[in-house]
Order: sequence, then structure tokens, then C-alpha cells
Amino acid sequence: MALAVGCSPSDGAWPGDNGAMARMQIQDVLFSQGFGTRRVCAGLVQQGLVQLGDAPCSEPAELVETEALRFSVQGVPWLYQAQAYLMLHKPAGYECSQKPSTAPSIYPLLPAPIRQRGGGAAAGVQAVGRLDQDTTGLLLLSDDGKFIHRMSSPRHHVAKVYDITAKHPVDDKQVQKLLAGVVLDDDPKPVRAAACHQSGVLSLSLTLTEGKYHQVKRMLAAVGNRVETLHRSRIGALELPADLAPGQWRWLGAAELALVSAAPAAVKSA
Ligand code: URA
Repeated sequence: MALAVGCSPSDGAWPGDNGAMARMQIQDVLFSQGFGTRRVCAGLVQQGLVQLGDAPCSEPAELVETEALRFSVQGVPWLYQAQAYLMLHKPAGYECSQKPSTAPSIYPLLPAPIRQRGGGAAAGVQAVGRLDQDTTGLLLLSDDGKFIHRMSSPRHHVAKVYDITAKHPVDDKQVQKLLAGVVLDDDPKPVRAAACHQSGVLSLSLTLTEGKYHQVKRMLAAVGNRVETLHRSRIGALELPADLAPGQWRWLGAAELALVSAAPAAVKSA
């Protein structure tokens, strides 16, 4: 799937960069953003393949201000980010794993620098939780371990909205059971939907604040129905943008990150 490599966030500040001014050598900037080893990054500059704004740059040790730094590498525009926060419209038929077993991984849908930033064994961004191979929709990725932990932790009750097409007609009894709580096969404690709304004869949306394995599919099965298609349309108060096509990704700005972390009370019910 073709993707634009360079892009800019929807607004300026990032949780990871606390507004502090930082000066770095351009070769270190490139290294931090995933453009290769320090030697490769120095080489990119020396070969004239890097521009700072509109100006060519040929000195790897040139000091630059990283805040809101725009540069390009081999003509591709980039914006410096102390840490990476992005959303992907996960297409069907992809696994949220670095080592997929039966279908392609989502990670090559992202440009190589995003997958390599930071270097080392834990390089690049990681998905915040996983969606099944056949599930589509909003997936967050980051290289900020604390953010990933906070978003994935059941204690933080981040609400996620799933739009479901069911195999059998949905009825009010099923909706009420999903709201009251159903018992899944691996835990005697019932799991309940934070919100549940029938949107058509064969469709409903379900808001969950936890993320057990195959939870939506198992909950639907527990009320005698079956998931035919599953799409995650919202995390917290952040909606999957209508103009983000399957397979496309976008940086998250500070305002969008605040929406993601919005308390359940701030999330309009599904
Ligand atoms: N619940 C599921 O059953 N599958 C998903 O991909 C996400 C939630």
C-alpha cells in the first residue's frame, strides 16, 4: 500500500518534548529520527541529501534547534519529534505483530525511519494493544513506553468504541445482556460494555474500557450472536478521521493526544 513518507503533525507540541529548547548536531537529529547509523547519517549530510528548511546543509556537526525543526532527506520532508505518537487506519488482513504468522505485519505500512527510530533491539514504534487480523480501524502506535503502558492498562479505563456487523439480527435482549455483563470462558468475573447501542438490524456499537483477548467477538458469542465485521472507530474521545484511508497513518498532535486520554465521562456514549 503506497504511503506518503513525510508529513506534519496537526499541531505543535508533543508530550515527550516538554517544550524545552534543545540543540543537536544535524547528524544526531537524523540518527534520533531513524535515518540510520551515525555514520550513515553523517554520510547523508555530506552527500548533500539533507536540507534544513529550504537551505542545503553539508556539515554533519552543524547545530540545529530541534523544536519544530523541519528538514528533508532525499527530498522527503520531515518534522523532528522527540517521541513518536501516531494513528494508523488498520486495514483488514494485517497482523499487529512484528513477527506475523499468517498475514502481513502492519509495521511495513509505516515509513522505515519510524520503524527504526531509537535504534537497537527495541527500535521504532509499537502498537498500543492489538487488533485482530480481520479487525479494521483506529490503532495507536508510539515509542513512548509510559504512554503505551498507560493506554493499555485496565486501571486507566480508556474507552474504545467498536462498530460491529453481526451475523444474526440484534435485539434489545442482547443489548441489555451486554450492558449487564457476560461471563467469558477464561474468567468467572463478568465483563460488561460501558455503552452499547443498536445501530441497525445487524449492527451495533460497543464501548469497552478493557481489552481482553478477542473480547468483542467473545462477548457477542456469549449473547448468542456472532461478529461478522469489526471496526474500531474511537479511542477515548479521538475518532478515526474519515479522510484517513485504510493503510494510511498520521502523526498525533498534542490536542489529539489529549482526546485519546480523555476520561470516560468526557466520551460521548456510543
Ligand atoms: N475485540 C475483538 O474481538 N477483536 C479485536 O480486534 C478487538 C476487540
